[in-house]
Amino acid sequence: MATNPVPDHVPPEMVRDFSLFTSPGMPPTPNGDPHAAVACVHAGLAIFYSPYNTRDGLGTWVVTRAKDQRRVLQDAETFSSHRSIFASALGENWPMIPLELDPPAHGVFRSLLNPLLSPRRAMALEPTVRKRAIALIDRIAASGTSCDVMKDFAFPFTVNIFLRFLGLSDDRLDIFVGWGHDLLHGDDVKRPVVARTVLAFIDELAAMRRKEPVDDFMTFIVQAEVEGRPLTDEEVRGIGVLLFVAGLDTVAAAIGFDLAYLARNLKDQELLRSEPNRIVIAAEELLRAYPTVQMIRVATKDIDFEGAPIRKGDYVSCATMIANRDPAEFECPNTIDLAREDNRHAAFGYGPHRCLGSHLARREIVIGLEEWLARIPAFRIKEGTAPITYGGHVFGIENLILDWS
Ligand code: HEM
Repeated sequence: MATNPVPDHVPPEMVRDFSLFTSPGMPPTPNGDPHAAVACVHAGLAIFYSPYNTRDGLGTWVVTRAKDQRRVLQDAETFSSHRSIFASALGENWPMIPLELDPPAHGVFRSLLNPLLSPRRAMALEPTVRKRAIALIDRIAASGTSCDVMKDFAFPFTVNIFLRFLGLSDDRLDIFVGWGHDLLHGDDVKRPVVARTVLAFIDELAAMRRKEPVDDFMTFIVQAEVEGRPLTDEEVRGIGVLLFVAGLDTVAAAIGFDLAYLARNLKDQELLRSEPNRIVIAAEELLRAYPTVQMIRVATKDIDFEGAPIRKGDYVSCATMIANRDPAEFECPNTIDLAREDNRHAAFGYGPHRCLGSHLARREIVIGLEEWLARIPAFRIKEGTAPITYGGHVFGIENLILDWS
């Protein structure tokens, strides 16, 4: 693990050896379960400093209480989202939009994009989503009694939906999956190369849609206006890249973590198979227990926060996997109760940047689970295999070999 220097203003007693990142290519902490890394943090300080918790040369403060995370995420004036994570891999400095913009610019773009991912739009995509899930699972069921759920179902399913949403055919689906994976989980050599490739793809698509408009997402973006003017090339890029990153991996990872849980907990699996009307509520509990996003903000000024002397420029991590296991927020947070009520988890974030794709993501997860459980008999993790999982800004799961022989 790379060690970043601890800044002088951080009191030594507030420093912890802790990371939600995993070295590229290495299995994470402990037992291949990145969520287990958070189990220890709530007993200690409300906020501590980790010199390890990024891969761009700085450590982060780590906020351990859900209520404090909400304070950070709500206060964009003090805790900015402006980081240029994607562009910095290329030595550039432009924001992914709206994710890396602060108010008021954030609101301008958020209002532009909101209608594209509204609950109504998610519902309209539902027949396509279900058809795609059924086709993939039927093919798996017909071809044997084992499969790699990530490769054979979760990625082709979610990436296909995402490409349809963008108005693209899925003949290059495998290439997109590879790009998404290398962007989020690749090493420092692979990431800039693939970032360049994704950028060239977005630019090319935007140029094509400018020349020949069709009824799709990119055409909407290149024709859109904000504050009475068309979007700049950089803004079109910033939106295109964000949608690419946000939609490619997250839902597949959620489905992977859910099926891994069910494979290890046959009683819960049987309960959902025999009473599928429980799946909507169960999916919320699985989102609570296995969320995938770690949000990081940058302090815009010096502030003392819950005893921590945060200084301008410091990174502050609000990890959904930490908020969702906070005992002050959830009774027995490490117990997975598929009937948990009043489940106000943080999987989709909080405040102005709350996930724009949550309606679509939720429908995809629920439909994926419904169709999987309806078509595949009692399944387990194949003997002799163990899923490889990742930490990072977005947690992921690379392979999940299930067996129902
Ligand atoms: C289970 C799947 C998903 C999870 C757990 C998830 C989680 C999140 C989280 C935590 C944020 C807040 C980030 C921050 O505050 O810094 C976010 C933002 C966002 N998500 Fe998702 N997401 C998922 C799926 C999707 C999908 C499918 C799409 C698009 C089709 C999407 C689009 C976005 C966008 C555009 C933003 C930025 C919103 C803004 O800055 O205003 N997400 N997501």
